[in-house]
Amino acid sequence: MAFGESAHVIVLGNEKGGSGKSTTAFHLAVYLLYQGFNVATIDTDSRQQTLTQYITNRRNWVREHDLSVPHTTHFHLPRTKGDSIRENERLEFELFRQAVAEVEGEADFLIVDTPGFDTHLTRLSHSLADTLITPVNDSLIDLDVLAKIDPVTMEMRGISHYSRLVQRARKERLSIDGRTIDWVITRNRISMLSSRNMRAVQSGIEQVATRLGCRVADGIAERVVFRSLFPLGLTVFDPLEDETLGGVATMSHVSARQEYRHLVSALNLPMRQRAERRMKAHAEWALHANGAEAGLPEGQGSA
Ligand SMILES: Nc1ncnc2c1ncn2[C@@H]1O[C@H](COP(=O)(O)OP(=O)(O)OP(=O)(O)O)[C@@H](O)[C@H]1O
Ligand SMILES: [Mg+2]
Repeated sequence: MAFGESAHVIVLGNEKGGSGKSTTAFHLAVYLLYQGFNVATIDTDSRQQTLTQYITNRRNWVREHDLSVPHTTHFHLPRTKGDSIRENERLEFELFRQAVAEVEGEADFLIVDTPGFDTHLTRLSHSLADTLITPVNDSLIDLDVLAKIDPVTMEMRGISHYSRLVQRARKERLSIDGRTIDWVITRNRISMLSSRNMRAVQSGIEQVATRLGCRVADGIAERVVFRSLFPLGLTVFDPLEDETLGGVATMSHVSARQEYRHLVSALNLPMRQRAERRMKAHAEWALHANGAEAGLPEGQGSA
């Protein structure tokens, strides 16, 4: 069923490996599925394919345990093996374009996971984003990925390669369709113990965000539960029953779920608008289907 509306695109990006892009992409996707949305996911990290692995693990786990949980429409982009960089980029672009075209009009949300380094597809994905999420860990190294910071005064001295990439994507986006990218930095793997260093990083992030024109959202604490959920392909939004988890849920599951809910709410995703469009599209479809069944010209059926 085509609803004739393009999906809201959420991109996970950060040129720092292991900051939590794939974990956040997967959790957001599953959260939106449970809200009743049609969600598509694209894994552009053709080397690691962590998001694809999550999705494969989920399919295997639910099949083996005869569970019923929702799934996204998933695409992963294989590594291209053309004769030249230019040829590879052309092939990658074509695969990416096909995947986007396939879900266009069908999906309410399209979530794109990118690798922890700059590629042609990373740049392309960023310029397609409506919402860009950059998870950062509480460390000066992570902050360095966004901007050059004086370690003593914590003053911003200049912007990083990645922030420049986002600025270019924002300009490109503005010139293509006049829309802005809502860039949200989310703190991830936050230590449970507050420290001087952590507070310094936190205030550094706030400062950098103001200068870069992005928002900061409170994120997720460091919790072992994420490591145990990965091999099962589950998230903290899936039922916390023993038969789903294959074991007993902990307080950590519940707290992590609460944190993710706060994060989603801080993202201000257009969920209400999407739901209204979906209801309108369903009503229109029912009207047409009813009219067609009664042999009436299009749109003249009674609802
Ligand atoms: N809040 C968290 N608490 C504990 N572990 C976490 C948390 N978030 C992510 N992790 C773990 O950190 C590791 C890296 O996470 P993830 O793969 O999501 O990062 P990434 O940014 O996608 O990495 P890459 O750049 O390599 O693609 C994983 O083992 C994941 O389970
Ligand atoms: Mg990843």
